[in-house]
Amino acid sequence: MVAPKEALRVGLLGCGVVGSQVARLLVEQSEDLAARVGAPLELVGIAVRDTSKARDGVDPSLLTDDAHGLVARCDIVVEVLGGIEPARTLILESFAAGASVVTANKALLAQDGPTLYSAADAAGVDLYFEAAVAGAIPLVRPMRESLAGDRVTRVLGIVNGTTNYILDEMTTKGLAFDEVLRTAQELGYAEADPTADVEGHDAAAKAAILASLAFHTRVSLDDVACEGITKISADDVAWATETGHAIKLLAIAELTDAGVSARVHPALLPSRHPLAGVGGAFNAVFVEAEAAGPLMFYGQGAGGAPTASAVIGDVVSVARHRVLGGKGPDESSYASHPLAPADAAVTSYQFRLRVDDKPGVLARVAQVVAEHSVSIEAMRQQGTPAGGVANLVLTTHRAPEAALAATVAEIAGLDVVQEVTSVLRVEGA
Ligand code: NDP
Ligand code: HSE
Repeated sequence: MVAPKEALRVGLLGCGVVGSQVARLLVEQSEDLAARVGAPLELVGIAVRDTSKARDGVDPSLLTDDAHGLVARCDIVVEVLGGIEPARTLILESFAAGASVVTANKALLAQDGPTLYSAADAAGVDLYFEAAVAGAIPLVRPMRESLAGDRVTRVLGIVNGTTNYILDEMTTKGLAFDEVLRTAQELGYAEADPTADVEGHDAAAKAAILASLAFHTRVSLDDVACEGITKISADDVAWATETGHAIKLLAIAELTDAGVSARVHPALLPSRHPLAGVGGAFNAVFVEAEAAGPLMFYGQGAGGAPTASAVIGDVVSVARHRVLGGKGPDESSYASHPLAPADAAVTSYQFRLRVDDKPGVLARVAQVVAEHSVSIEAMRQQGTPAGGVANLVLTTHRAPEAALAATVAEIAGLDVVQEVTSVLRVEGA
């Protein structure tokens, strides 16, 4: 029987969507948490911008606008402010004061993770970040610990709840993009600036973190090729359904001959793929590993309480380390694989064209595809609208992004092609 230990002082930076739920759970579950950790966790302060704002269920005497003073008197600091500064400085100050840090801040980790990992290592404390990727889903720890004996080859993830919610509502209810985005913001899924969600930047930050964990290589936000969902039209969504696909914003990290490829873009997934049925604001990550084979992680990737669950799980882990001595695993970047250029990624394209409906057009399009050493998987003519114009849908086999993009660019310039209506990648086929 371990003797009761002194309380561990926990400081909370931020009391918004996530922070307010972390504060609630720390208080509501204090007895269970103390038993699991082996010492009580005492919430000693909550740093916010506006201390006069009423916050449901939060003891106002804990609120402070002196975040720097707070981190200097804690054993564990929970950073749920978001953004780069002052979050980075406060985390570094926490380490300097000997505190372990739990953060949900993927933007900061993807931009400047190595600085933080080194500072935590130098101070001999933990930096945990389970909530930074896919909210409630246990993913960072399985990648870092459970799969430490295997070789991950590919990670395919739906890691942004807002965009999955938008694409799902557009698909199932036929709603317009803007209308659905507003609801996602009201439900607390979207980032403060939803551009980060819809332009793919949030997913790109998570892709960088996942790629780093999967391939033991430093991958930062700047290394991730990124395309969001703002150009996805109702027509694209309807066409995807008609051809037995779902459109998803995917974060992809894979080890290729050219090195680690990390990218985010919308893609058509065949409806039989396990990720295709992931609806609403749910996240799911499909991991392929050499020995384990395929693994799927599924759950709520956004929202206050689900994210707070992952944060508190990390708080318990780092608190246990402080009670028992020692610390958890550090950053693992020993493999240092090269980073593959964006145009070396291998994928398939499906593109739709409006072309002149006359003899020889199909042959000219097919010839351009062949000249770029791209192979056609399927070509289909969809109806014949009035005015001698036909809609062509062409799906390629997998080929390097550079060859596929050059193919589409050359086809767009053919005199028989009136318009390239849409270009989407196909994954998971
Ligand atoms: P919110 O915008 O809801 O909350 C931010 C909180 O931080 C607010 O309480 C705000 O104070 C406080 N804050 C911001 N800047 C400062 C500052 N300079 N000094 C003191 N306090 C400050 O953000 P979320 O809770 O949604 O997100 C927090 C973090 O969690 C982000 O990194 C986000 O990416 C991540 N995350 C969020 C998820 C979600 O579903 N929302 C899911 C997974 C991760 P005040 O209240 O006074 O304005
Ligand atoms: N805005 C993010 C999302 C929150 O929609 O998934 C979780 O990181």
